[in-house]
Amino acid sequence: MLYEKKYCWSVLLRLYHWAFALSIIALVVTGFYINSPWTNTMQEGSMTYGMTWMRYIHFVAGYVFTAAVIARIFLYIFGNAQERITDALPITGRNIRNLYKTILSYAYIRDEHYPRLGHNVLAGLTYVITIVAAVFQLVSGFYLLFPEVANWEVIGVTIFNSQQNARFIHHLLMWWFMIFAFIHIYLVIWNDLKEPEGLVSSIFTGDKFKEKQV
Ligand code: HEM
Ligand code: HEM
Repeated sequence: MLYEKKYCWSVLLRLYHWAFALSIIALVVTGFYINSPWTNTMQEGSMTYGMTWMRYIHFVAGYVFTAAVIARIFLYIFGNAQERITDALPITGRNIRNLYKTILSYAYIRDEHYPRLGHNVLAGLTYVITIVAAVFQLVSGFYLLFPEVANWEVIGVTIFNSQQNARFIHHLLMWWFMIFAFIHIYLVIWNDLKEPEGLVSSIFTGDKFKEKQV
């Protein structure tokens, strides 16, 4: 069978992906530390500054995360055909059929691959939910960080009410990103093993391999 290289993901999408993925790793590690520090905090402020550093890294990674989320929202509107939100959600006949067929093949009920250049719609839908969760995560984060800044206070109180609530939701949402990451990495490797389209490398190079129509 003949294959040809097809351009799929823009540079901005790939940059967003890795900024998002790497910042989440830093945010989860430092987030756990902020929640319950595992070093001897008696040293705080004298020999080491464990909490200070962890919070600093958390906030820097938080800004990277925020920039990545803004880039993704931009691409949902102005990205290429595979990157737009209309390709991700089950809102057209083609997308609904793809969602249904993907669920059947992921459940091992049918062993067929349905060619599509961008994401399958099950993945696309999960990514949109992840970006919505990310918006709540960053808004609760900024409310925790700047409770005295009028705009964040108004937004934070409106959505989360107290700081404690915001912190609780911020913590719960962390688990979405962690569970998502494990299932996501499993599934992209599973897909890459099943289909010769070069899925994993596409998030580095931007290209996928598709059957050549002759
Ligand atoms: C996936 C993204 C993120 C994860 C997994 C995460 C995780 C966490 C966790 C687990 C905590 C500790 C709260 C607790 O359980 O007691 C925390 C605290 C906090 N996070 Fe995040 N966070 C994320 C994004 C952000 C962002 C974007 C910001 C905004 C800059 C932010 C700002 C904060 C602040 C201000 C605190 C409180 C620090 C303190 O009380 O000393 N976080 N985060
Ligand atoms: C070894 C690590 C990883 C690899 C190899 C990888 C690979 C990929 C690939 C191949 C895609 C495109 C999949 C498709 O067509 O549906 C993708 C998309 C995506 N990945 Fe990852 N990924 C990794 C880690 C992560 C992590 C840690 C996160 C976040 C927790 C993440 C979040 C996402 C998101 C949100 C998308 C959708 C991109 C979009 O919005 O269009 N990835 N990843």
